[in-house]
Amino acid sequence: MNPMNILIIGSEGQLGSELYDALVLKYPSAKVVCSDIRNAFPEKERNFEILDATDAPALDRIIEKYQISQIYHLAAILSARGEQNPLWAWDINMRGLLVVLEAAVKHKIHRMYWPSSIAAFGPNTPRVQTPQQVVMDPNTVYGMSKQVGELWCRYYFEKYGLDVRSLRYPGIISYKTLPGGGTTDYAIDIFHKALKGEKFTCFLGPETPLPMMYIDDAIRATLELMEAPTEQIKERTSYNLAALSFTPEQLGEAIKKAIPGFEMDYAPDFRQKIADSWPGSIDDSEARKDWGWNHQFGMDELVHVMLDGLKSGYLS
Ligand code: SER
Repeated sequence: MNPMNILIIGSEGQLGSELYDALVLKYPSAKVVCSDIRNAFPEKERNFEILDATDAPALDRIIEKYQISQIYHLAAILSARGEQNPLWAWDINMRGLLVVLEAAVKHKIHRMYWPSSIAAFGPNTPRVQTPQQVVMDPNTVYGMSKQVGELWCRYYFEKYGLDVRSLRYPGIISYKTLPGGGTTDYAIDIFHKALKGEKFTCFLGPETPLPMMYIDDAIRATLELMEAPTEQIKERTSYNLAALSFTPEQLGEAIKKAIPGFEMDYAPDFRQKIADSWPGSIDDSEARKDWGWNHQFGMDELVHVMLDGLKSGYLS
């Protein structure tokens, strides 16, 4: 797969910014091009292009300019923000995906990545150890766009042979960027408040289990999926992916072990209903079997790496 010219769409978000660093480290001879609607890191020396993912001619120009052979399409409006403006979120998430899929076929892109989410499941999905193949009836716009997006990915694979691969991410926890409109973001905000010595008011109730993952595991899973030989990719919608599951109360207790004075209370809002419609835990045995997925960060590692990372200068 050399030379590899890789385009990240949505490079300035939580995943994109860390994926960029990981790709540069892993493929030193590759050209990695970032694109987003704004440049969040103007001080970084890198290839960056302003791009609205729904702008097909602009995407064509970038792919041609850099002779792109791989695309990671990460730009999306997350669950909670999407509920504030449903048609706008649908347009960005759905039309954005279709524009990128079309461009990928047209320019004979070698391999493409697009993330799905636990949000693709819904209130009638079994919530405990949710299997790969199961009822999916999402009731958020974000979740609907992920569920239908998965089907479009499979369609482009079957109809055009486009090698597009996908993971159903759990809530991703990281410290380098601030939360961006998701329902799982309480599990990031809580660390910021704890380190500032402030009380944390959680927008979910204490007993709301959700699947979560530290970002290093999420990035590694993404790169491993993208590197796996084609014959190992048996699931062409999107793979279930899991690391750990916890409730806000359990996370609060784990933080309290490191910061004994930490206090939290609960004021559930509209996001409670979203969380209640999602799985509490995920069965990802197919990812483990097909391409060898294995998570590394459990609860203790997660808490330590978040607190250490934020202390070392990322605390805003
Ligand atoms: N983290 C996302 C959200 O909360 C789920 O994929 O919207």
